[in-house]
Amino acid sequence: MSSADSLYTKIGGREAVEAVVSDFYDRVFEDPNLKPYFEGTDKDALYAHQVQFISAVTGGPVSYDGDDMQQAHEGMGITEEDFDRVATYLAEALEANGVAEDNAEAILGQVASLKPEVVEQ
Ligand code: HEM
Repeated sequence: MSSADSLYTKIGGREAVEAVVSDFYDRVFEDPNLKPYFEGTDKDALYAHQVQFISAVTGGPVSYDGDDMQQAHEGMGITEEDFDRVATYLAEALEANGVAEDNAEAILGQVASLKPEVVEQ
């Protein structure tokens, strides 16, 4: 796939990814089930890494310089239920920001494949 027809380009590039990630974390941080995981997290750094991560997995011209998914979530005891909550907020953020359904599904499929690296319980 050339970068011209990457998912990143199709969904609207940097501007779209930033809007989706910002909306996504607004939803995550409002959820009392999820909030405790993020106490003590530097939210600006998290946002910057998530923008890089989503850009990179969608084929954008951006490199991700954070920890790998297993390292980043190790020791948090993340449950499958909470993983699914997070994935649902990503789906909502994609939809709310006008990402077409087939593109959203492709992104959500990639994220779902990370479940074994993120979930510990
Ligand atoms: C759905 C798939 C997920 C993806 C793609 C993802 C992605 C990321 C990324 C890119 C980072 C930044 C890592 C770094 O800065 O080095 C991160 C950190 C973090 N994630 Fe996730 N994440 C996912 C699911 C979850 C879930 C389900 C939870 C909790 C319920 C969670 C909680 C956290 C927390 C608390 C941090 C910050 C850790 C710290 O303070 O350093 N993540 N995640």
